Amino acid sequence: AKPTAPAITQCSPDSEELPANVKVNCCPPMSNNILDFKPSNSSRITRIRPAAHLVDTKYLEKYHKAISLMKALPDSDPRSFTQQANVHCAYCNGAYHQVGFPKIDLQVHGSWLFFPFHRAYLYFYEKILGSLINDPTFAIPYWNWDHPDGMTLPAIFADPKSTLYDPVRDSVHTPMVALDLSYDGTDHDVPKDQQIKTNLTVMYRQMVSNAKNSGLFMGQPYRAGDTGSKPGSLETMPHGPVHIWVGKKTPNREDMGNFYSAARDPIFYAHHGNVDRMWSVWRTLGPKNKNFKDSDFLDSSFVFYDENAKAVRIRVRDVLDTKKLGYEYQPVDLPWLKSRP
Ligand code: C2O
Repeated sequence: AKPTAPAITQCSPDSEELPANVKVNCCPPMSNNILDFKPSNSSRITRIRPAAHLVDTKYLEKYHKAISLMKALPDSDPRSFTQQANVHCAYCNGAYHQVGFPKIDLQVHGSWLFFPFHRAYLYFYEKILGSLINDPTFAIPYWNWDHPDGMTLPAIFADPKSTLYDPVRDSVHTPMVALDLSYDGTDHDVPKDQQIKTNLTVMYRQMVSNAKNSGLFMGQPYRAGDTGSKPGSLETMPHGPVHIWVGKKTPNREDMGNFYSAARDPIFYAHHGNVDRMWSVWRTLGPKNKNFKDSDFLDSSFVFYDENAKAVRIRVRDVLDTKKLGYEYQPVDLPWLKSRP
């Protein structure tokens, strides 16, 4: 059976799945009234997500303004920056249990739920930002780490005076340093052009060679009652290594390198923008690159808060087509397609 949306009123504020010594309540404000997400029947694109290294000052001003307003909301508001970060913690650190399985945590990583969960999460986050600046066309940027020009920390996130900055990062990994898409926690002193070449072959491997069917790319099934599953190629790499590369070299690698804290860094949403984009790109690469048709997958659901601070239940089947969600990605080249190892 499908894992159904968690009962948010039964969220455990003292989950045991947090790292030792970490005390944080990741449960959202309670709501007994949960609306069903209404998919739009038009496929009109109103939001184009730009590559973070290509944005202009006009865009950047809007983005800053939207994030500042989100950070200014009180923590009790489910649209606030703090609560938005907590969403990730709640779905990854054992705050929710599976409906009907009170002893089994709901986990959105390491299975076929990975792509759809994060797509829905970003969708609501983006709509909230747009509504805070009264601009329904506002779209979040993506960290274009699959392209040589995007293989560093995007400069817009690196200014300590900016609202996009997070001090809890590895300070060595500045916009001057090449990102390592297979980063394992150790810095190797590799010349930049060589690192870029390695990264491109990592992309080819994870998007093509290791991604020949839905299970391999998206992750294996995760049904009600399951305690685990298997991640897909892209979740394992580069998704995971990029998290670790950004996080501070502390035991828990906060913020980005740990589930509970990852979304406290504004860069999280740009990283996941590209993860989401890779899902869309993968679908276009070959006839076998299809989404699962299994109804346990399609009917799995999650609860988020929307731009009106209302709780909304959204199903996996509602997020399979980004056009129906009203957005797409600024197109850029895919040089890794020519980088077969
Ligand atoms: Cu929910 Cu990048 O992890």
